[in-house]
Amino acid sequence: MLLMAWLSLLAFVWLGEGNPLVGLFDPACFVMRGECPNKNVTFWLYSKSTRDNPILLDPLDLNPWDFQPPRPLKILIHGYTGYRDFAPNSFIRPVLLDHEDVYVISIDYGPLVRYPCYVQAVQNVPLVSKCLAQLINNLVDRGIVRNEMIHLIGFSLGGQVAGQATNHLKRKLKRITGLDPAKPLFILGSDTRRLDAGDAEFVDVIHTDVLGRGMLRSMGHVDFYPNFGPQQPGCMEENPTDPGSCNHERAPRFYAESINSTVGFWGRQCSSWLVHLIGLCSTRAPQALMGYHVAEDVKGSFFLKTGSNTPYALGKMEDVDNSRHLAKFRLSPEHNEVDHDFEPQLLEAFLELEDPENHLKTDVDDLEKQLIWTDQAEDEPLS
Ligand SMILES: *[C@@H]1O[C@H](CO)[C@@H](O)[C@H](O)[C@H]1NC(C)=O
Ligand SMILES: *[C@@H]1O[C@H](CO)[C@@H](O)[C@H](O)[C@H]1NC(C)=O
Repeated sequence: MLLMAWLSLLAFVWLGEGNPLVGLFDPACFVMRGECPNKNVTFWLYSKSTRDNPILLDPLDLNPWDFQPPRPLKILIHGYTGYRDFAPNSFIRPVLLDHEDVYVISIDYGPLVRYPCYVQAVQNVPLVSKCLAQLINNLVDRGIVRNEMIHLIGFSLGGQVAGQATNHLKRKLKRITGLDPAKPLFILGSDTRRLDAGDAEFVDVIHTDVLGRGMLRSMGHVDFYPNFGPQQPGCMEENPTDPGSCNHERAPRFYAESINSTVGFWGRQCSSWLVHLIGLCSTRAPQALMGYHVAEDVKGSFFLKTGSNTPYALGKMEDVDNSRHLAKFRLSPEHNEVDHDFEPQLLEAFLELEDPENHLKTDVDDLEKQLIWTDQAEDEPLS
């Protein structure tokens, strides 16, 4: 457990900019305990007619007429340093309202995830998740929205909020989309803290910054790795000082484009990221469409290339026969667990390279205690 916290922190230290220790003792950073509804967690309802004047929802006093006529409900969840008009909202909400007949709820928990308070932001996720679950339980209990109409779309820390919200839901959700779910402080620990395939009937995940802010391991029923995940084309040019944040943000950008793309983002199946790394993927394996219109029966990991600016989607890939090359190797098509073991090991390599100083270690011990405490928070349905 200690090693895990330590290693995930290092991933961030390595990235410089996003170092969570910056805010560890900042008096402006706070951890909220408490009840839902909470003033720091608000819900804003958008439809075509209210796109510029969203309705602030009261989870304890919901108005059924706000959700008439019945339409699918998309709930967008921002991440660290976000708010209701920040990614993924800024990219996805306008395209949804332009092209789909849906309601959109943008959650805003910005006060709980301000820069530089990453560690506290992670510790605030349980409260945010509880408040989100309360809203969903009340919407469904009161017959205002049907459970199977609800789809959560979470970016970064918001992906983990979606995963933790399910700990408090009375019914299993139909679909959750994780857009580059946050990695630091989520690598190990139990699945109740992290988005996983058990959290909804269908969980689709897009990974765009696998060596930095986002998870490398497969987490859903289907996982897509645009450009293999470590570096997105165009990001070095767009943001030379912090290409990682550009990589990370590509996930909601790709997702927004996938809603009305004419060619689509098509990925090709391969058993795992590591197998892809060593070049042993079949170039005739099945292809699947990534993003908003993904088929809900596809399973596995898929890899694709994109352009370096919009439109990013490149359409379907040509099938090339590389089976003679692959025949030299005997590989099982399953076994993507190797990626799960590989992710912490990768950070261990950073540890050796970096050899950090001892005083940091005390901070991490402290942090560890707090996180264990967070882990023990009750996970019960909430209304
Ligand atoms: C968020 O919580 C903090 C700490 O309790 C409080 O001071 C602040 O006013 C809250 N923010 C909002 C927008 O309610
Ligand atoms: C998709 O919709 C957005 C606005 O909602 C628009 O800017 C873009 O051009 C559209 N793309 C295509 C391929 O129609």
